[in-house]
Amino acid sequence: MRMYDLIEEKKRGGALSDKEIAYMIQGFTAGEIPDYQMAAMLMAIYFQGMTDDEITAMTMEMARSGDMVDLSAIEGIKVDKHSTGGVGDKTTLIIGPIVAACGVKVAKMSGRGLGHTGGTIDKLESIPGFSTSIPREEFFEIVNRTGIAVIGQSGNMVPADKKLYALRDVTATVDSIPLIASSVMSKKLAAGSDGIVLDVKTGSGAFMKTLEDSIRLARKMTVIGTSAGRKCCALITDMDVPLGYAIGNALEVQESIEVLKGQGPADLREVALELAANMLSMAEKGTLKECRAMAEAAIKDGSALKALIRMVEGQGGDTSYVENPEKLPRAAFSYEVKGDYQGTVTHMDTEAVGIASVMLGAGRSRKEDAIDPGAGIVLKKKYADRVEPGEALAVLYASDERLFSEAAAKLKEAYTIEEKIPEEKKLVYARVSGDGVERY
Ligand code: URA
Repeated sequence: MRMYDLIEEKKRGGALSDKEIAYMIQGFTAGEIPDYQMAAMLMAIYFQGMTDDEITAMTMEMARSGDMVDLSAIEGIKVDKHSTGGVGDKTTLIIGPIVAACGVKVAKMSGRGLGHTGGTIDKLESIPGFSTSIPREEFFEIVNRTGIAVIGQSGNMVPADKKLYALRDVTATVDSIPLIASSVMSKKLAAGSDGIVLDVKTGSGAFMKTLEDSIRLARKMTVIGTSAGRKCCALITDMDVPLGYAIGNALEVQESIEVLKGQGPADLREVALELAANMLSMAEKGTLKECRAMAEAAIKDGSALKALIRMVEGQGGDTSYVENPEKLPRAAFSYEVKGDYQGTVTHMDTEAVGIASVMLGAGRSRKEDAIDPGAGIVLKKKYADRVEPGEALAVLYASDERLFSEAAAKLKEAYTIEEKIPEEKKLVYARVSGDGVERY
């Protein structure tokens, strides 16, 4: 078999066989197929797509490329959640503790931020002492004892995705339905849970910019999950506007704690509660309606916040930062972004907001870059808000004042302010499961 022939086949719109896909993924992971051939293949897939059979074969081959986690040492039904990535998307920090407080074990492996999107592991590491790199046995022990632990993917999980994702990131092939579906689902299948709730983001800050593409992606992923014998459903949630007001690692931990205390932004709370309800229902805790009520009660009675404290303690973090979140790292300098605007915010380029936060040090431009945990943005105005001249759009935080001018310019570009009443937006657009697509 030759990689050249497979590229030729895909370029012409043909379908690759299971054997050809196995050859390609195994060869690329082992370093036998060079980046330039795989890059050509990725671009051919980007334009020609893949059949459901090809996507499933590629996902399974990727999942098998490294360690497959066996979670049977943890009691009960294990349900995982995965977001396709967004700006200000801190829902795992809220949902994990809610679900654990409702009696479902959360053994979660999360990722770091890449590109304009943030990652749960970077956010958690802004809590002093918190360890996200824990040996497998200890991870199981913490989950069994405290009900929840969130760690980074171990070194040898899904190496095929690590290599492919890095190549996609530099060849403009991230926003492809078959490539996102196989990337996300290979990690979820390798992570070993019984059920998977997917949060498929849609809009200007998501990899999928349109609702129809997001639904298509969700359908592909749920088909893969179900055919691999896992329970699987997806919510299509809004990423046309950043979620909540805080963007940046410690800032997002602080905002998540506010939600767990029964305060915080309404959009963030709503999306987190809907996802939590779906996870609880998948773990057979009741109907979606009953599970939503359980999730709300876990915030109200303080048990979800207690679960977060247990998690931080279990993973070596200093719990006083959860009890007093104002102690969390905050960059030394701040800058108010203001202008002579008058009107209503009718559109936000949410990807540009994410890029502005990366420019301040809250994310990485290159994989090896260090994160500044206290850097980021607190939005003062979002979609549909009225802006008067001289009012601040946002406050920027950075450890180096020289970073402000470029980031402020990028952030200003993200806002469209007009004398127009904007349309009302939904937070959750649809639910996709084996039963089909239910639009909200
Ligand atoms: N998240 C992933 O894990 N992979 C993708 O390809 C996109 C988002």
